[in-house]
Amino acid sequence: MAMHIGTILRSPTLFAIHILGIKPFPYQAEILEDDSEQIVIVAGRQSGKSMTLAIKALWTAFVKPNEDILILAPTQKQAQIIYDVIYGMISKSDLFKGHIKKFTMSETIFDNESHIRCLTVGKSGTFARGYSATMLIFDEAAFIPEEVFVSLEPAFAVRGKQMILSSTPYGKRGFFWQIYSQHLLNKDSKTKVHRFKSEENRILKKDFLIQERQRMTEVQFRQEYEAEFIDEVGLYFPIELVMRCAQDYEYGFPTEKEEGTRLIVGVDVARVGEDETAFVVVQKVPDGISKVIYAETHSQFKITDTAQFILRWLNTYSIDMVFIDMTGVGAGVVDILEQNFSHKVKGITFTAQSKSDMYSSIKIAMETNKLVVNRADTKFLYQFSGFTGKYDITGKLRITKSEIEHDDLVDALALTFSDDALYNVMPISNFNDYLNADKSKEDIAKWEVLKWTGDNTW
Ligand SMILES: Nc1ncnc2c1ncn2[C@@H]1O[C@H](COP(=O)(O)OP(=O)(O)O)[C@@H](O)[C@H]1O
Ligand SMILES: [Mg+2]
Repeated sequence: MAMHIGTILRSPTLFAIHILGIKPFPYQAEILEDDSEQIVIVAGRQSGKSMTLAIKALWTAFVKPNEDILILAPTQKQAQIIYDVIYGMISKSDLFKGHIKKFTMSETIFDNESHIRCLTVGKSGTFARGYSATMLIFDEAAFIPEEVFVSLEPAFAVRGKQMILSSTPYGKRGFFWQIYSQHLLNKDSKTKVHRFKSEENRILKKDFLIQERQRMTEVQFRQEYEAEFIDEVGLYFPIELVMRCAQDYEYGFPTEKEEGTRLIVGVDVARVGEDETAFVVVQKVPDGISKVIYAETHSQFKITDTAQFILRWLNTYSIDMVFIDMTGVGAGVVDILEQNFSHKVKGITFTAQSKSDMYSSIKIAMETNKLVVNRADTKFLYQFSGFTGKYDITGKLRITKSEIEHDDLVDALALTFSDDALYNVMPISNFNDYLNADKSKEDIAKWEVLKWTGDNTW
């Protein structure tokens, strides 16, 4: 029996099933039917958040007149992903034909004067001036800086009806956490929290989650797939610190190398049959800023695949150095590459101590604003929370090996810091020169503290 179209359009869930051909999971249906003024979605990766937001935005725009729906994501790429889902839904169904006034790659306007737009938050400040939204949707909200929410307040103040913040948790920090935790305390009636784990997505393969659980540390898994705001006490790289280094830019090699910069590649080679091989490329100004300009992981890469991969880069770009973890099978990769590029390839044998030293180089670079990571690479950002530091009886910080061995991207990044040892190391004897040089008091204080706690590379 065919359902009456009026009935279908009254419910976003029925709209999804009968018009879009998507059967929402129960927790998705709850969000779709929720008309609370403020909705907070705290859920694991791959649980169907973006899909839910897309359906909700489309239903609202199509069914209700004069809606101005603005979807915001931390990066252009993420904003585009969600808009593309909406675009696809509209293109696939005949229902929308004849009801569209404007249909572009970034904006849809229906004949009822309702708009849907997707933007990266980078552009929201300028866009929001003189604009008024009825519905604001933030995807990956934990990665959106607080200023963005503040700058959009006026845009929402006049006609705003519903605001949705959706994200996988990323630390007890930032606006997303504030809104969520305030609600826990006050239980205000205008806010509704929806919370679910990734395993509730029925189409997600069970094997995938089992694999991820093995690949990640306990802390990481709880955060990313069980949607927990983890307790950050003991995290070696505090999430706030990581986010301070995160900027918005596109990954890619420079077409021409900037003067005074070095291009350094770090490769963490996977053990046979396990793990992922990670490649991280850093643009470094000696004594200055290190910027991660590219990062990529591959599973099931053989030694020859890895060597081929690096060879292609060496032949294409003006790379200064490649550092390869040769603790395990990586030695084979180094052997192959040394045949033609011995001056540019260096194998590094990790010891617990050298690894710790490299991690603390990363941390110092973060604390002194000398590391830039890509805000869009959430896989990379999340890996930093896999590290817990413990102080041993002598007061020296030790990072426990068992907990860190699966953090391939951070390991690859750590390898790029070997370049300092070759190129711009600051020997202990120069420490006094450093202090006497033209540095701010805060800088000096920081270095002194670092020296004291033994939390440093020297
Ligand atoms: N109700 C559903 N039915 C079928 N597939 C779904 C459903 N919801 C989500 N998916 C699929 O599950 C995957 C993860 O969804 P997505 O919305 O991208 O998750 P998240 O934004 O939480 O990471 C996508 O491939 C998406 O198409
Ligand atoms: Mg998503």
